[in-house]
Amino acid sequence: MVLLAATAPRTTTQVRGKKTKTTISFEDLPQGPIPSPTEELEEAATTTTGANDTDEKSKKNTKAKKAEPEYPTVIQQARRNMDKLSNCILLTRVGGFYEMYFEHADDYAPLLNLKVAQKKTNARPVSMAGFPFFQLDRFLKTLVQDLNRSVAIAEEFPNDPSAKVKSGGLMHDRRVTRVITPGTLIDENFIDPYTSNYVLSIYISESDAGATVEGEDPSHSNALENEEDIVSALLPPPELTLGLAWLDLSTGQFYVQTCLSSSLSSVISRITPRELVLDKALESDAGNRLVSLLTEDRQLVAYSPKGDRVEPSDWTSVLETPISESVLESLSSAEVEAGNLLLNYVKDRLRGLSMKLQPPVRYQDMQIMAIDKSSMRALEIKQTMRDGVFRGSLLHAIRRTVTKGGARLLNEWLSAPSTSLNAISGRQDLVEIFLYVDDLRQTVLQLLKRCHDSQRLVQKFALGRGDPDDLLSLASTIYATEEMCIALKNAVSTMESGSVGAGELSPSSFSPTCINILVTKIRLTGPLQLARRIRDAIDQEGLETQHQLQDRETGAMLALAEEVVTTQGSGEDAAAVLPKKDPSKKKRQSGAASIREYYASDTEAWMMRPDASAALSRLHSKLRELAGEKMALEESLRKRFSAPTLTLKWTPMLGHICHVKGKDAKALPATPPPGEEVPIVVSSSRSTRSLHVSEWTTLGNRLDQVRIRIRAEENRVFSSLRQAVIRNLVPLRRNAAVLEEMDVAVGFAGLAEEQGLVRPILRNDPLVGHNIVGGRHPTVEKGLSEQGRSFVGNDCFVGSGSGQHGRSWLITGPNMAGKSTFLRQNALITILAQVGCFVPADFAEIGIVDAMFSRMGSADSLYHGQSTFMVEMMETAAILRNATPRSFVIMDEVGRGTQPEDGTAIAFACLHHLTTVNKCRSLFATHFHKITDLVCDAGLDVPTGGPVDMYCTDIEENEETGDFVYIHRLRKGINRRSHALKVAQVAGIPKAVLATASKIMADVCN
Ligand SMILES: Nc1ncnc2c1ncn2[C@@H]1O[C@H](COP(=O)(O)OP(=O)(O)OP(=O)(O)O)[C@@H](O)[C@H]1O
Ligand SMILES: [Mg+2]
Repeated sequence: MVLLAATAPRTTTQVRGKKTKTTISFEDLPQGPIPSPTEELEEAATTTTGANDTDEKSKKNTKAKKAEPEYPTVIQQARRNMDKLSNCILLTRVGGFYEMYFEHADDYAPLLNLKVAQKKTNARPVSMAGFPFFQLDRFLKTLVQDLNRSVAIAEEFPNDPSAKVKSGGLMHDRRVTRVITPGTLIDENFIDPYTSNYVLSIYISESDAGATVEGEDPSHSNALENEEDIVSALLPPPELTLGLAWLDLSTGQFYVQTCLSSSLSSVISRITPRELVLDKALESDAGNRLVSLLTEDRQLVAYSPKGDRVEPSDWTSVLETPISESVLESLSSAEVEAGNLLLNYVKDRLRGLSMKLQPPVRYQDMQIMAIDKSSMRALEIKQTMRDGVFRGSLLHAIRRTVTKGGARLLNEWLSAPSTSLNAISGRQDLVEIFLYVDDLRQTVLQLLKRCHDSQRLVQKFALGRGDPDDLLSLASTIYATEEMCIALKNAVSTMESGSVGAGELSPSSFSPTCINILVTKIRLTGPLQLARRIRDAIDQEGLETQHQLQDRETGAMLALAEEVVTTQGSGEDAAAVLPKKDPSKKKRQSGAASIREYYASDTEAWMMRPDASAALSRLHSKLRELAGEKMALEESLRKRFSAPTLTLKWTPMLGHICHVKGKDAKALPATPPPGEEVPIVVSSSRSTRSLHVSEWTTLGNRLDQVRIRIRAEENRVFSSLRQAVIRNLVPLRRNAAVLEEMDVAVGFAGLAEEQGLVRPILRNDPLVGHNIVGGRHPTVEKGLSEQGRSFVGNDCFVGSGSGQHGRSWLITGPNMAGKSTFLRQNALITILAQVGCFVPADFAEIGIVDAMFSRMGSADSLYHGQSTFMVEMMETAAILRNATPRSFVIMDEVGRGTQPEDGTAIAFACLHHLTTVNKCRSLFATHFHKITDLVCDAGLDVPTGGPVDMYCTDIEENEETGDFVYIHRLRKGINRRSHALKVAQVAGIPKAVLATASKIMADVCN
């Protein structure tokens, strides 16, 4: 229990419901009503809708409970916080625990596997549930990450004497210090290091805001009672102009963009925000198209007041640097409104915590390839279509990054490939250098592995967080960056001196310009000074010892929690409350012990080196001097009491004591020698005695004083280092961005070597289409090779201006022979090429694509009242409306979900439109062979000078044995046989069924 006392402040109820050694328990707290708060409850203005909505319930409860204020003050405080933040789950720190009360305990404790206790109070029993403070991250993960809820954390702050009187004797005040929502994570342990964590606000201009379906009564928006309703619901809704703003609080990245409502879904699927923010005014607007669209998409939406209009030039207080003039001029009014809405929301969630964001970047100016939502899904770019998992996705297949920032950058690039030839070739040049100059790649790779996630580290400091470990991580990243800079500069001079044979090793020209560009972006002067200051100030060894001590404290808390659950709860509770893993592996908690306990411990662990400041070195020499006095005193007391085992100690219960054990304890003289002070025995057991001796009490207090001053001085030095980090925010972030790019490029080079990829040639020429020779599918190839099978490469020539190849390829052929694979591989090669990655092909030349569209496979959305065919038609409609001559479209079996005649007609009409109106590059696969005839009849085929080329897959059959193999290589021509029965046979369709089917086939064919 000593350790327990060392970690838990002595003033609070440590054990829920159980009367233990506490100086204040709920029963002792002042009872009775608290004057009602005078401040406006403006926090209640922000509400959230999401997966599990208990807001209404909570509001009702709130009203009911307001009439009964006779709770103990702590509970009353919690009630008040719950009322203020009606959309959040409130966790209140009470000593070593976080507690939930009332309906929050009833509703959420079961989801967290916590036991709900009924606390007796003067008013009525109150439901409560809690967990030890060091498990906060784990429970936050469940609440915020898994259940998508917002959590308000009320921390306790010691009341000064006057506040104590005002609060009716309360030792602590409990204030909400932060509201954690899925989109506003900072450095929580459960934040996904490999993806950005965006919160996105959407603003509809005032005039558009009320746009409901014309003539539609919002209260009956789902009741499509007559034909007109149905028709109007199916018509494309009127376009709204939306302002979007999104930011990642963990890195400070901040973007704005304007978009049309029709492309909102795709933009959201590109950004993949964790949380959306809409204007509070829209909350009651049930018929609003935007709101219903977002609700259908099951997005987590928070409604927040718009606040006063602030000009973007006034955003500076939350930005690391002011917004540049050119960006200020280009920001649209909708973007500014969205930015205000977002900043207002985030500030409210951070509750006064200051933040430093990067100035907003306008997405419109970024030149990116648009990938619509269904392509993102169908091409399995970030997750598989069937299971929604990462493994099997394109990102999984190509990710070789070694830093978290690099992984996030790759993720962003894949969602938004570039359309800028300069940007793409810059990336490719870098990959090429790393591919051919192996030494350099290995050096950079090793240095990258020494780098920490500096974007997120730096942001922690910007938000007033960060600990000495973070400083050390930052310092080692800065040193690694310096070494990297040297390595890169050396490589450049070697290349310039011609020692690396450009052309000998690489098929294309080999220019160090791309490295120079990166090197010149790196800023080292300020950061290096910072790194030196950190290394000189922080005592790594001391820090280690401190961590060990803290881990011991956590162990003690665990022991306490174990005791609580075993004496009060069931085995299930134990499983719920106690961490599964060794707590020492978890992130260390600071502030667990009271300052006094910490300083008084015999094992001293200091985070700063004694020479980190003049004051510190003076204090440390004083400490050494007093430590010498302590040893001398110990020696003299041992002699005085003839007790060689005597030690000088401090315990929370007894203060400064002389501790004696074994036979010495028994031999202690009952009365001291004449003229000497009588030691007061303050505690004794069978084999030990603890005595108070005034000399030790005095010396002990002096030691404590010095320790307290050392700790205070350490904190001062630490905060000046923190300030220095903030002063270096801009160069540190820029360096981090360079490291990320380097990481992606090194990863691409590794991938290219491993999988034999080639550098694609990108052209900014509308006459250049796709000229891909021996293209392969990046993920299917890998899957096949794991089974020992090989992938057959295929060429793709669409859209080239020579007229030799068509703008579209119409592909027929048997089931299972590789049509869909071919379509997808060309889309993926295009995306990879524009991301800057090398591609799986023997040769690739691609005219830059502005947008990627795909219509693949079935994606019922029965939940949204849309059948398979309806979804297919909606996706097709979007493509036909939006594809431009620079777009790339793949369409797989359009029209198959209905009767063949209708399907054929629609499919042909789509192909006709794509090739003659959209004039985009397209690959079109179908089993409706009649389309090929229609194409020829319409004179659309290449031989007659049209834009449609016919290609097909095939199978090879052994007539005698009936064996067959798929020929996955495409050839020119039409294949009118789908060989569906063969697939049916392989799939295990019963023989009788196959026989019937064969007979019918024979009849039809005859
Ligand atoms: N080029 C290739 N080389 C080797 N194997 C391939 C190739 N293309 C496809 N395959 C294999 O064939 C399987 C089926 O391919 P795919 O789905 O593309 O056929 P399909 O022609 O679209 O069939 P369906 O008409 O039934 O949709 C793939 O899963 C893969 O295992
Ligand atoms: Mg297919």
